[in-house]
Amino acid sequence: MTNTKPLLRALAGETLPVPPIWMMRQAGRYLPEYKATRAEAGDFLSLCYNPDLATEVTLQPIRRFGFDAAILFADILLVPDALGADLWFVTGEGPRLSTVTGPEGLAKLKGPDDIHDHLAPVYQTVRNLAGALPPEVALIGFAGAPWTVATYMIAGRGTPDQGPAHALKDSDRATFDALMELLIAATIEYLDAQVQAGAETVKLFDSWAGSLKGADFQRYAVEPARRIIAELKRRHPHLPIIAFPREAGEGYIGFHAATGADCVAVDDSVDAEWVAEHVQPTGCVQGNLASRHMVTGGDALVSEVRRIRAALSKGPHIFNLGHGITPDADPDNVALMIDTLREE
Ligand code: CP3
Repeated sequence: MTNTKPLLRALAGETLPVPPIWMMRQAGRYLPEYKATRAEAGDFLSLCYNPDLATEVTLQPIRRFGFDAAILFADILLVPDALGADLWFVTGEGPRLSTVTGPEGLAKLKGPDDIHDHLAPVYQTVRNLAGALPPEVALIGFAGAPWTVATYMIAGRGTPDQGPAHALKDSDRATFDALMELLIAATIEYLDAQVQAGAETVKLFDSWAGSLKGADFQRYAVEPARRIIAELKRRHPHLPIIAFPREAGEGYIGFHAATGADCVAVDDSVDAEWVAEHVQPTGCVQGNLASRHMVTGGDALVSEVRRIRAALSKGPHIFNLGHGITPDADPDNVALMIDTLREE
C-alpha cells in the first residue's frame, strides 16, 4: 500500500521535505466560525453529539488553513459519558462527572461493549468526514488514554495535580485497577468503531501522563497504551497510531518500542533538538511548538517554526503544537505558522 497523503507517509516512517502539519484543538474557540456553530448547537456536548454540526466544525480549520489532517471533533470524556458517568460542562470552568471513589461507583458503570448506542453520533461524524475531506487530507480519530480519563472520572472534574486519582491508586488499588481495565477495554472498542467508520489513524491523548512516576508510569501509561495498540493492530494491521504521553520527559525515550506506537507526540517542555537525538531515532515524532506563539506571533513565531523544522528534519516529523491552541490565539498567527513551515 502506498500512501499519497503526507500525514500517512510521515506516520509510515518517511522523512518528507516539508513536514505535514495539523494542530491540537484546531477546531475551537479562537475561530469565529467555530463560535457561531457552537452557538447554533447550544452547548459543547450537544455539538459533540450532533453529526452535521460536528462535521462542520471539523472541516472549518481545513477550509481556512489547509491543514494536512482533520481531527474528529469530539472529546475524551465522551467515553465516561457513554459508560454512564453523567458528563456535563460548566461554562468557563470545565467538565463535571459523577465520581468513582470506590467499588460502588465502579459497579454503576456499564460494560465496554455497551457504549456504542450512546456513541453512534460520533461514528456518524467520522463517516461524514471520511466522505467530505479533500483527498490529500488525512482523518484522525482519537480517545483519551485510560489514566487521563480515569483522573477526571475519579475527581469528577479536572484537577491541577490529579490528586484524587493518585489517592485512589495508592489506597484502593483493586478499584483503581478495575477502572483502568474497564477503560482499556472501552477505549479499544471505541477506537475500533472509529476506524471501521473511516478514521485513518488514531491518537491516544494521555494529557496527565507526566504526573505518573517510575513504576506507575510503566504500569499506567506505558502498559495500557501497549495493550490498546496491540489489540487495535491485531484487528487493523495497517492502522498507524499516535501516542501522546504529555510531559513524560525522559519517559518519551523508548516509548515507540515499549508501546508499539508509530508516532510519539511531544509537548513543548522538551527541546526539538533533544527529541531529534532521543526520540526520533525510534520512529515518527509530532510536535512541538509552544501554543503561546499562536497568541503572540511575530518574529519569535517565525524563528521557532524554522528551528523546530530544522531540528527534526532528519527523520519522520509531523509539525504540531506542544498542546492545544488556546481561545485567545489569533488565526493570523496560525496562517503565519503554516506559511513559514511550507516556505522554501
Ligand atoms: O483537537 C481537536 O480539535 C479535536 C477535538 C478535541 C477536543 N477536546 C474538543 C474540545 C480533543 C482531541 C479534545 C481532547 C481533550 N479533552 C483532552 C486531551 C487533550 C488535552 O487538551 O490535554 C482533555 C483533557 C479534554 C477534556 C476537556 N474538554 C476539558 C478539560 C475541557 C474544558 C477546557 C476548555 O478548553 O474549555 C474540554 C472542552 C473542549 N474540548 C473544548 C473543545 C473545543 C472547548 C469547549 C467549548 O467550545 O467551550
